[in-house]
Order: sequence, then C-alpha cells, then structure tokens
Amino acid sequence: MSEQLHDLRLTVNGVAHALRVPARRLLSDALRHDLGLTGTHVGCEHGVCGACTVLLDGLPTRSCLMFAVSAVDVDITTVEGLTEADGTLGAVQQAFLECHGLQCGFCTPGFLTTVTAGLRQHPTPTEDDARDMVAGNLCRCTGYTNIVRSVLRAAELAGGEA
Ligand code: FES
Ligand code: FES
Repeated sequence: MSEQLHDLRLTVNGVAHALRVPARRLLSDALRHDLGLTGTHVGCEHGVCGACTVLLDGLPTRSCLMFAVSAVDVDITTVEGLTEADGTLGAVQQAFLECHGLQCGFCTPGFLTTVTAGLRQHPTPTEDDARDMVAGNLCRCTGYTNIVRSVLRAAELAGGEA
C-alpha cells in the first residue's frame, strides 16, 4: 500500500511553499529534497552534530529530529536565508569567511544558523560565550579556534544586531 501524503505549507526564508509529503518526512529531507534547499546539511541524523540546524521562529532547531508536518505555522530560516536582501553575505557568513571559520564546510550551515540565533541573545559575547554558543555543534576540521574568532568577529560586524 502506498504511503499517505499530506498537503502542507512551509514558510522558508520568507517564502511560502506548498508540499505534499508523507507524515514521516523529516524537515531536513523536506528542505533538501522537496524544496531543493541543500544548504542545510545532514550528518548524524540523530540530533548530535548540529549540521542540520535551522531557525524556527528564530530558535535553533535540529531539522533531522523534526517532521516537516510539525513545521507549519512557523517561520523557518535556513542558511540560504542568512544573506542580506541584496544577496551579499550576512554578518555571520562574512565573519566565517574573514576568520577562516571553515575548512570542508560540511558543518558550516549549522554553525551559521546557530551563531545567528546566539548573537541575538548575546550580541556582545565574550570568548567563553562564543564557545558556549557553538558547544552543541561538531566540526571535524577546524579545531574550533577560528570558529570562536568568527563568532566574535560576527558580533563586531553586526554591531550588536546579528
Ligand atoms: S544531522 Fe541533525 S544533528 Fe546531525
Ligand atoms: S569545516 Fe569540516 S566539519 Fe567543520
């Protein structure tokens, strides 16, 4: 028997999308496969690595732990939505670029969304705050030093309004 499909609307980066998906479609898969927003990466699929982090009404959320049908009625922001309206890099993206906060880049979308939310809560972080902010995200390449520098630089670039 074929799986029952559900019609839903997801608002992603300010744009409403109509989807028809099975009830168990993960939000991460809906974003990547149904909407083509492949900036959201999937690593562990168990809520551990943070690569799939998106913002739901501004709060960082692991999209691999959530069904797409549960994400209606919220504003979803993916890494693609962190750029400025004119297409230039947002402050957090620019800071990671300047400070070499990435190597392979697999983990980066999750860091960018996490840090975006973190700076809204702590617009002028100390180094310890910056470390705490990214403590739930795993990176196998960088050793984190440049990621922490990137967080501090992002705060500077955002001028307290990330
Ligand atoms: S893929 Fe979701 S936390 Fe690792
Ligand atoms: S830059 Fe490669 S996993 Fe973080």
